[in-house]
Amino acid sequence: MQLERIRNSSLHEKVMSAAQASEFIKDGMTVGMSGFTRAGEAKAVPKALAERCKQQPIKINLMTGASLGNDLDKILTESGSLARRMPFQVDTTLRKAINNGEVMFIDQHLSEMVEQLRNHQLARPDVAIIEAIAITEEGHIVPTTSVGNSASFAVFAEKVIVEINTLHSDKLEGLHDIYIPSYRPTRTPLPLVQVDDRIGSTAIPIPAEKIAGIVFTSTPDSYSTVSDPDAETASIARHLVNFLKDEMAQGRLPNNLGPLQAGIGNIANAVMMGLLDSDFDDLTMYSEVLQDSTFDLIDAGKLRFASGCSVILSERMNAKVFDHIEDYKDKLVLRPQEMSNHPEIVRRLGIIAINTALEFDLYGNVNSTHVCGTKMMNGIGGSGDFARNANMSIFVTKSIAKDGAISSVVPMVSHVDHTEHDVDILVTDQGLADLRGLAPRERAVRVIQNCVHPDYRNQLMDYFERACARGGHTPHLIEEAYRWHVNLQTHGTMKLAN
Ligand code: COA
Repeated sequence: MQLERIRNSSLHEKVMSAAQASEFIKDGMTVGMSGFTRAGEAKAVPKALAERCKQQPIKINLMTGASLGNDLDKILTESGSLARRMPFQVDTTLRKAINNGEVMFIDQHLSEMVEQLRNHQLARPDVAIIEAIAITEEGHIVPTTSVGNSASFAVFAEKVIVEINTLHSDKLEGLHDIYIPSYRPTRTPLPLVQVDDRIGSTAIPIPAEKIAGIVFTSTPDSYSTVSDPDAETASIARHLVNFLKDEMAQGRLPNNLGPLQAGIGNIANAVMMGLLDSDFDDLTMYSEVLQDSTFDLIDAGKLRFASGCSVILSERMNAKVFDHIEDYKDKLVLRPQEMSNHPEIVRRLGIIAINTALEFDLYGNVNSTHVCGTKMMNGIGGSGDFARNANMSIFVTKSIAKDGAISSVVPMVSHVDHTEHDVDILVTDQGLADLRGLAPRERAVRVIQNCVHPDYRNQLMDYFERACARGGHTPHLIEEAYRWHVNLQTHGTMKLAN
């Protein structure tokens, strides 16, 4: 029964245990592994590798699409096997090891890593481990719930290990669109002009002889942990939906808004849920991760088509979607992250990009990654791929964090991921600031009036007025710019005593 999933019978002899397959991985190797936003990661071989590490210390450089599910980043960190990790993670244990300097983390735009592998700017993987639904007659690999960087890892690696996960329905086959750009500088334009275009193959094309081992597994993906919208995220969604309605009424956006991209996490998911109660329809998504909200919008008849590179769902939605995948297949496609996040396509399609900030400053610079300028949270992910190239670049965040001890709007961000030049609209639960066409001093007034929590509004206005008195195109009091962050570290709050 299991062997039916390996349709090239010459590969049947490559079936082995996860422990045997893990032996292909040697100390110092670079490993490229499937997995994106906790979906479609290889599950058995990394665990076997972590077990092996208990007997013989092995350090690897691990590349993935993005974050791994099933606590794999935690298990691998605890086993001591991670020397380097790129390009994204969301795990608490790994985060700690990164911030202690024990694991070297390379936080990178998600569209960019395989381009660097293609040009040999980064060392190519010695071994790729790819989760699959099946292997085709030609020996090509059919991915599962994420494509991420799997296709290029398999193409560039010396050896490929395939984990066939029989828990995933074989009906997922046909969902993927694997297109790998050719080499620069002779590359032709990417032939994708509509969100629902299919321009590649449904499986990862590699020579069958590259497959060194095949492991069968039946472990489910982790469920999404996003929480339901709360008062603040619902308020953010309301401000944004009203703004989009107005843009449409003014003729600046088409009736269906154009393709939407929404980032990861609670806030982005809540914002997309906000569209459920709106009058918009015939919506499309050209995004990276597809969360519960994507399928709620499809079920409500609001979303016509969604293109992504992974699907991560709550337990409730997981059963609904994957038990009835045939009902969704003509409305979905999963592509490599290089394509889902490609700057050329994002610019061409005119995407409305909605991503989340940890903090932003009064001029519109955004920090999405570093708490108080030093401690890594998750990584920039795809937010920069979209923000720089979008038709409209929107950042959302709650106006305060940690029960009000932190203001998400600060005089100067403690780390910059997205510069003021890449940011059009800022939204908090307090309101929305449209920064398009405004000079820095005008941007600051709008941000302070519309986005800042009342507890911090006077404090930020006071900073801005004193900075303006000193002068400058982008006025600052350099010696005071991080006073709020310093106060947080020394007194536990950004609220200043005087
Ligand atoms: N300083 C310190 N902590 C902050 C903070 C700030 N300015 N703002 C928020 N936080 C904390 C929250 O308190 C919360 O902490 P908790 O987990 O202990 O409760 C945590 O950050 C997450 O915040 P939340 O409000 O729940 O937002 P979220 O789940 O939507 O995540 C990001 C927000 C920024 C961390 C997340 O969106 C991210 O990693 N973004 C970068 C990558 C990205 O945008 N990828 C998508 C591209 S397609």
